[in-house]
Amino acid sequence: MPKASPFLSLLLLLLITIYIAHGAAGDAIGGDPWQEPEVAQQPAVVLAGEWQLLHQNTGVSAMHMQLLPGDYVLMFDRTDSGPSNISLDALSPCAAAATTALAGGGGGAVDCTAHSVLLDLRSNALRPYPLATNPWCSSAALLPNGTLLQTGGFSNGERIARLFSPSTGWVDLPSFLAVRRWYATDILLADGRVLILGGRRQFNFEFFPHDDAPAPQPTLFPFLEETTDMDAEDNLYPFLHLLPDATVFVFANDRAVVFDPYNRAPLRRLPAIPGGVPRNYPSSGSSVLLPLRPDSPSHAEVLVCGGAPRGAYRLALRNGTFAPADRTCGRIAPTDANPVWAMEEMPLPRAMGDMVLLPTGDVLIVNGAAAGTAGWELGREPVTYPVLYKPDMQLGARFEVLAASTIPRMYHSSATLDTLGRVLVGGSNPHVGYVFDNVTYPTELSLEAFLPPYFDARLDGVRPRLVAAPAEVGYGEAAAVRFEVPGGAVSGGPEEVRVAAVAPAFATHSFGMNQRVVSLAVGTVAQLAAGLYEAQVAAPPSPSVAPPGYYLWFVLHAGVPSTAAWVRMRPLGAAT
Ligand SMILES: *[C@@H]1O[C@H](CO)[C@@H](O)[C@H](O)[C@H]1NC(C)=O
Ligand SMILES: *[C@@H]1O[C@H](CO)[C@@H](O)[C@H](O)[C@H]1NC(C)=O
Ligand SMILES: *[C@@H]1O[C@H](CO)[C@@H](O)[C@H](O)[C@H]1NC(C)=O
Ligand SMILES: *[C@@H]1O[C@H](CO)[C@@H](O)[C@H](O)[C@H]1NC(C)=O
Repeated sequence: MPKASPFLSLLLLLLITIYIAHGAAGDAIGGDPWQEPEVAQQPAVVLAGEWQLLHQNTGVSAMHMQLLPGDYVLMFDRTDSGPSNISLDALSPCAAAATTALAGGGGGAVDCTAHSVLLDLRSNALRPYPLATNPWCSSAALLPNGTLLQTGGFSNGERIARLFSPSTGWVDLPSFLAVRRWYATDILLADGRVLILGGRRQFNFEFFPHDDAPAPQPTLFPFLEETTDMDAEDNLYPFLHLLPDATVFVFANDRAVVFDPYNRAPLRRLPAIPGGVPRNYPSSGSSVLLPLRPDSPSHAEVLVCGGAPRGAYRLALRNGTFAPADRTCGRIAPTDANPVWAMEEMPLPRAMGDMVLLPTGDVLIVNGAAAGTAGWELGREPVTYPVLYKPDMQLGARFEVLAASTIPRMYHSSATLDTLGRVLVGGSNPHVGYVFDNVTYPTELSLEAFLPPYFDARLDGVRPRLVAAPAEVGYGEAAAVRFEVPGGAVSGGPEEVRVAAVAPAFATHSFGMNQRVVSLAVGTVAQLAAGLYEAQVAAPPSPSVAPPGYYLWFVLHAGVPSTAAWVRMRPLGAAT
């Protein structure tokens, strides 16, 4: 038995606390709640990864976060939570903001603060942007031209579609949505349109842009009604993933279907995830599409992790009892003829976690809580340790616990990959307004960067530096990627040099919409000069593998990623 480290002691203490708090009854998580933690069997080592504080105060709590081309990160919150901590005065007359506050249900108080900010990653400078309508608990997707489409929200924002770019700011498209959408999910489809699906009491979907019809009608989607729990819903913010055959995987509650939004193929039902634990809001697990590989372009796998047991929301809300979070992940290949879930266990239980795809193809699971659910004041026992999931490792060797943050982030937190390969982590506000004092979990205005283990300085000798990549590329086209490796000695063996195209996600409520990693086929790697190399790669083969739009291209050498270049996948048929 290795000597206990402070981390192990802390983990054991946490588990013992959960055990004592909840007894052997174990709620609905199934099985014996007292399981030997996997990490306790690992040798006591310094946990990998590093945290950096980018901003103590970004002015808004990052409920929603999106990386934008040009190296910006857009963060926004509700407009009806009372004043934020960043002034709008410099940009827009206070009167306009006051009107917003009144219309948005802000209690009539004059609100001259901003509820959205743009971070310039190059300068680390923040710029506030006015929001005319309320995007609370909304959804979004980056359009193929790099403009952000954001849809829905609350009160005066519930039927609005908005466009955002750093040069135009927010532009509202009033009454665009056929119905009110709150807690919906958006996904970019292969044809460049956006599917907007669900939302509270909305068992239907629609598209952006609309068909030519003057009065757009939503299309019914009964699966959302079927998966609504009476007391807590547990199926909001459904997990959507675009599959390489252009169909869409939809996960809601504990069930999944594959459907064709254009009705060209029948709906396929997948088995329910074993265990009966709901995974969507407010039980709030998370999900990613695992990286698509060039050697099996029609195969896709989905990973779903964490959540809170059925009934946990009501227990927390009505009884003040905070059920232990779930610790299982399910993995399934929806493209198989007879898909089955393979279950595995995370080293730590977690609800409200964010799953972030890294350029290596690994998945970072960060933020969240070990007890309770999403919803105001309903989360307990923050899980500050990120966990890495390595999909290609053997079962039982896939998880690694990483270095903890000092900042708890639970409800209304977010996380996203950035151009440098860091994971930006922000938000957390379990309160109705901004509350900083006299509460256990104050509103978080800070923004951190988590540096995954590949930032370790001991890897600097093999770390590639991306020198040149195409600005734009067509489907299946050959492209050249140039990079330097300080130590030189690149042999170009099959796994030694890789290139990954990563679609930036819209992160909110524990789900990264449109998050996607596509590994590119690498051909020859030629040495051009001492330490300078050029790899020939094939762009993604089709828009269902990689929908048109902006991707981060990372080159990886010996498993260590470079910083990324933005490469635009040109829409089919577009002029070169
Ligand atoms: C937010 O603003 C309030 C009011 O000005 C101030 O008291 C508080 O310290 C600020 N909080 C943070 C985290 O900056
Ligand atoms: C991007 O596309 C949207 C939707 O078609 C359009 O409204 C917007 O103006 C476009 N943006 C640019 C920069 O072309
Ligand atoms: C409800 O709360 C009470 C008091 O804290 C507790 O004894 C009881 O076990 C809780 N009920 C459930 C179903 O957890
Ligand atoms: C802190 O919170 C407690 C419990 O809600 C309340 O009784 C107390 O008055 C608060 N103190 C301050 C200084 O707001």
